[in-house]
Amino acid sequence: MLSTNEIREIEAEAAHYPTRQAICIDAMRIVQRHRGWISDESLHDIAAHLGMSVTDLDSVATFYNLIFRKPVGRHVIMVCDSVSCWIMGYDRVREHLCKQLGIRLGETTPDNRFTLLPIVCLGCCDRAPAMMVDNDLHNDLDPQKIDRALETYR
Ligand code: FES
Repeated sequence: MLSTNEIREIEAEAAHYPTRQAICIDAMRIVQRHRGWISDESLHDIAAHLGMSVTDLDSVATFYNLIFRKPVGRHVIMVCDSVSCWIMGYDRVREHLCKQLGIRLGETTPDNRFTLLPIVCLGCCDRAPAMMVDNDLHNDLDPQKIDRALETYR
């Protein structure tokens, strides 16, 4: 069941769009901000609220990689694996992150502090390799910069 606050925020967004389906990504992001991820139950509730089928909403959710359909840690690291980052050292960045966190791509640390996910181009190819932690962009990555960045997220 959606909370009063979630419904109020979704309706505030809906006021700016011609159809309710047009805000489906925003609605999922609102619920995700409150709950951390989009469970099957949340997906059903959002679909019902917007008058969409669950299948249609789920297809949007699974296509859009900033919607989390599984629980994630307190901080989500999204490491870019697109062409520029790949050329500029994606493998080293991924290996260093995996080593420092003790997890593989797609996993969450046992203390629930970090989830590590791949993502497509973050739009800063001229400063590759890059990663995003929550809403913060980190670029020109090397092992030292990665370590300093990880320290800032508790
Ligand atoms: S390819 Fe990584 S930021 Fe564009």
